Amino acid sequence: MDLPFTEPFKIKMVENIYRSTKEERENWIKDASFNLFNLKSEQVFIDLLTDSGTGAMSDKQWSAIMLGDESYAGASSYYKLKDAIKDITGFNFFLPTHQGRAAENVLFSVLVKEGDLVPGNSHFDTTKGHIEFRKAIAVDCTIDAASDTTLWHPFKGNVDLEKLENVLKNNPSEKISCVIVTITNNTAGGQPVSMSNLREVAKLSHKYGVKFIIDSARFAENAYFIKLREDGYADKDIRDIAREMFSYADGMTMSSKKDAIVNMGGFIGFREEGLFRQASTYNIIYEGFITYGGMSGRDMNALAQGLYEGTEFSYLESRINQVGYLGTKIKVYGIPVLEPFGGHAIFIDAKKFLPDIPKEEFPAQTLALEFYTEGGVRGVEIGALMADRDPVTRQNRFPDLETVRLALPRRVYTNNHMDYVAEVVRNVFERKDQIKRGVKIKWEAPIMRHFTIDLERLH
Ligand code: F0G
Repeated sequence: MDLPFTEPFKIKMVENIYRSTKEERENWIKDASFNLFNLKSEQVFIDLLTDSGTGAMSDKQWSAIMLGDESYAGASSYYKLKDAIKDITGFNFFLPTHQGRAAENVLFSVLVKEGDLVPGNSHFDTTKGHIEFRKAIAVDCTIDAASDTTLWHPFKGNVDLEKLENVLKNNPSEKISCVIVTITNNTAGGQPVSMSNLREVAKLSHKYGVKFIIDSARFAENAYFIKLREDGYADKDIRDIAREMFSYADGMTMSSKKDAIVNMGGFIGFREEGLFRQASTYNIIYEGFITYGGMSGRDMNALAQGLYEGTEFSYLESRINQVGYLGTKIKVYGIPVLEPFGGHAIFIDAKKFLPDIPKEEFPAQTLALEFYTEGGVRGVEIGALMADRDPVTRQNRFPDLETVRLALPRRVYTNNHMDYVAEVVRNVFERKDQIKRGVKIKWEAPIMRHFTIDLERLH
């Protein structure tokens, strides 16, 4: 018999977590204005708010931290990171930034102008935020299959090439800042994009003289899915797959807090020196000098090491199988969950879970609140609150997907924790008919409102 997969690591340091009572949680969430971002971390038992910056670094990463070079200019840590980025992505030029949205800010300062269009696949909220803040428009060209939570498609994160070509064909190329493809497609459920789709998107973009950028936060998980699901890649190494993915792009933005398993950091990769030089000025204004850009030398060292650990097949296998373990448990209880399971998270279909709650009362947020009060499990709403209002009409946008995302930090929780989470979800499912009302907005920011929103629970 084949031996089962297992985590390719053991645990050297542990952090105790407090298991609160339901009564405590009911008080805390009221004090937090029913916004899960407002909770203190010690008020959360299992924290699945995000997989961003929440991973456990390895002994090798911690020891790399001790060797960090904190020189302002030309630090050895910068060159170490430059070599790792070149090796893993193939990009010759790069700028460090303090996290992914900072990479977007710097790159878009060069590329995005008022009135521009930025086609892509379900832009992440900070990506869309940076586009809309510049009075440009993010055009979602994700394939229609992505909005059907039960349809099985191996690459549900893909770009619909016809939708993309329509945007490119019907607008002058100088009105299109760039095409941006997010791998994996977080907002559509952590779904991968196929190699052939990346290749075709690059071809189309270049045919119309437009740059093709990859938002690469979960590029290694995307490469893992390509290896498993796309013809011709089964025998290829994850790093070869990653290099091929990036070979089609003119640049990349990276939130290193995900697949590079660091707690903070990001970067931009560039193919051409020209764009790199233009972006360097903005990096200096917003982030720091071009050889540290918002990162300490020690953090660049940890990131260089993390890029290698995050692209190890055995690590990715245990990581993505843990996500699948949780998804399968929840699914077996008959709970509506987005399939195929994502690379970093399980997305629960709130419209199906709470069908009686109208969209105006935000069913996914309501459900996320229930998971918290039931068992101290913190997920996040990926739905209408996160989708913000339309920048022109100021009406609420109601996306097709209204989900609660349970994102798994890397190398942090065991499958016993996953069993616990599945039981919490099941308990809420068993009493779902008693949940009759949702939430109402008391205060919201004009953009990216879900982070700071104040809500009221309706009864
Ligand atoms: N792009 C994608 C696809 C992301 O998922 C994120 C962050 C970013 C860009 C921005 O990166 O946080 O380093 O500034 N996603 C986190 C999440 C916050 O919870 O999904 P950042």
